[in-house]
Amino acid sequence: MRTQVAIIGAGPSGLLLGALLHRAGVDAVILEARTPEYVLGRIRAGVLEQVTVDLLDQVGVGARMHREGLVHGGFELAFGGARHRIDMHGLTGGKSVMVYGQTEVTHDLMDARAAAGLTTIYEAAQVSLHDFDGAQPRVRYVKDGATHEIACDFIAGCDGFHGVSRASVPAGALQTFERVYPFGWLGILSDTPPVSHELIYTHHERGFALCSMRSMTRSRHYVQCSLDDKVENWSDDAFWDELRRRLDPAAAEALVTGPSIEKSIAPLRSFVAEPMRFGRLFLAGDAAHIVPPTGAKGLNLAATDVSYLGSAIAEHYQEKSDAGIDSYSQRCLRRIWRAERFSWWFTSLMHRFPETGAFGQKMQAAELDYLVNSVAASTAMAENYVGLPL
Ligand code: APR
Ligand code: PHB
Repeated sequence: MRTQVAIIGAGPSGLLLGALLHRAGVDAVILEARTPEYVLGRIRAGVLEQVTVDLLDQVGVGARMHREGLVHGGFELAFGGARHRIDMHGLTGGKSVMVYGQTEVTHDLMDARAAAGLTTIYEAAQVSLHDFDGAQPRVRYVKDGATHEIACDFIAGCDGFHGVSRASVPAGALQTFERVYPFGWLGILSDTPPVSHELIYTHHERGFALCSMRSMTRSRHYVQCSLDDKVENWSDDAFWDELRRRLDPAAAEALVTGPSIEKSIAPLRSFVAEPMRFGRLFLAGDAAHIVPPTGAKGLNLAATDVSYLGSAIAEHYQEKSDAGIDSYSQRCLRRIWRAERFSWWFTSLMHRFPETGAFGQKMQAAELDYLVNSVAASTAMAENYVGLPL
């Protein structure tokens, strides 16, 4: 088989890149290791920056998001038993975010791809990348016991943190930066109304908690947990009790509990691999970087990576210019590092760190106090939360 771009991974990065390339008249094939059902079973954050909303509109998959998504002009920070609203809309000159689950974004992109008759090969095993340092890269995979080869001009590594793309780059060509946090998030999805119409991020001596939502009838809640915690050890009741203990009295009173639809533990990590281009191989999304979920930047970063990549590849074919390809890595990394900083800062502010003594806790309390009482500090937070300009 021959195609212009072989995309590895059908998560949001790979699917959005496929859609952007299709609109630019560039031919692409997506190879995905799992089934569509498995891909859709992963529950992840659900806050879209305006830039991401615009990209989804641009590729024509925004209709359901605008119908079902919730536009939020603010969020709340809770500590010391009280809540403080960060008025994103007011502080950023009218900007907001869209609360719409990553699962739904993936679903919409998958449906549009299938409707356009574009090729996605699911359950592709033993995917391997070849000759991307030359002019004619190739990708091999096994499907139903037979080995296949795709000849292409470019390979887009959109295969997430554990994918094969980053692992195919010679170790000496890659520099990585990492911080692993000493806790995880235990998350529950439930068909219960959210605690409030906006998200509540809570700092508490027992640990961080987040009240989020997917709709006005479906909630997503998290509590900070220890790294050796196991989901099996958390009954739904134990989760709700722990969440209630951490919330401010009004939120605890408003909390409606119910059976979980999904329950999982995610570790928290900051990670960046540099550069993001090796000859004709590009890394995008979680394949190149991870942010801790505090602030929900992961999907938004993935979306801007593939927007830059889509334009760079289109420019290569349409204008015979490699300027976008040559600047891809640098352009992405500037935005990525700023989002890494914000996610690391928000994580550091809101969680209980096992090794932090009384001084560290006082610093967190003083910073929270400053944050909600200073227009300058609130504005800095709000402009990062809605997303820095491209
Ligand atoms: N071959 C083919 N596909 C693979 C391989 C492989 N060797 N390894 C992994 N994959 C697939 C995974 O099964 C997954 O469907 O690549 C896809 C990568 O998807 P994601 O992990 O969702 O990564 P990405 O598309 O970059 O999305 C970034 O996901 O983790 C969140 O916060 C993050 O929201 C952000 C988004
Ligand atoms: C979520 O809804 O899953 C979510 C929302 C905001 C975050 C993280 C996760 O910061």
